[in-house]
Amino acid sequence: MDRNPTHENAHYEIEVSGVRQEFEKKEGSFLALDTVNLNVEPNEFICVVGPSGCGKTTLLNIIAGLLKPTEGTVRVKGEPVTGPGKGKGVVFQQYALYPWLTVKKNVEFGLRMKGMPKAKREEIARRYIDLVGLTPFADAYPKELSGGMKQRVAIARAYATAPEVLLMDEPFGALDAQTRAQLQENLLATWQQERKTCFFITHDVEEAVLLATKVIIMSAGPGRITKIVPIDLPYPRTQETKLTPEFNNLKNLIWNQVYREYLEHAK
Ligand SMILES: Nc1ncnc2c1ncn2[C@@H]1O[C@H](COP(=O)(O)OP(=O)(O)O)[C@@H](O)[C@H]1O
Ligand SMILES: [Mg+2]
Repeated sequence: MDRNPTHENAHYEIEVSGVRQEFEKKEGSFLALDTVNLNVEPNEFICVVGPSGCGKTTLLNIIAGLLKPTEGTVRVKGEPVTGPGKGKGVVFQQYALYPWLTVKKNVEFGLRMKGMPKAKREEIARRYIDLVGLTPFADAYPKELSGGMKQRVAIARAYATAPEVLLMDEPFGALDAQTRAQLQENLLATWQQERKTCFFITHDVEEAVLLATKVIIMSAGPGRITKIVPIDLPYPRTQETKLTPEFNNLKNLIWNQVYREYLEHAK
């Protein structure tokens, strides 16, 4: 049964209703997600935290349309998700760039596939390459770039396709602390300018508090949402924000919750 009729919830950007995900494992059927319900408002920056294996990537893949849930439905802008593409830009932990294309051509790729005229797609690519600070590298190839730069290309490419929502699975997880800090600020600035709804997975509680308008805490065994914490810190946020008592209170609150879930799960 559809418990989320569109006429009531048309203003939600993402609606996850009664989503369950079972996987067949050697030992038998395994419940990775148990009845997840979530409504995301336009322009929100959602960060999902939780212990490894609690189903974060599974949830993102379901919202992205890369995985069909065992039960339940997902809507993006009121439209049922039936497959990838269509309004959803995804950034993965590993920079999935085409090595034989320049930065510019990588960012343009999705637009070219859509049949957008050359002049128009070059203009859009230029704009987003500039937004992530890579204009001097527009003609470089991925192998000439650092990890952080490649991830900025992936973000520019996701933005360039003008998605309704941006889905990011630990995009900064593999980067060193300084590069990560730079990319966090860059992403915050881009988000403030573009006002796209972001759904961002991280295992780093500090990163979640810095970025999010709301932090979703998940627990494992089976994966479910245990708490939603609004982050009412003012924007613009920078690395300095991390030094405030309000930031640290929120970080401790969330960290304790995640850690408690972890301990309970480990029993
Ligand atoms: N395709 C799959 N087949 C079987 N089990 C899977 C599959 N994908 C994920 N799982 C299992 O589901 C659980 C959640 O995985 P995942 O969503 O990747 O967690 P997280 O991203 O939070 O670390 C894990 O126990 C994982 O082993
Ligand atoms: Mg994961």
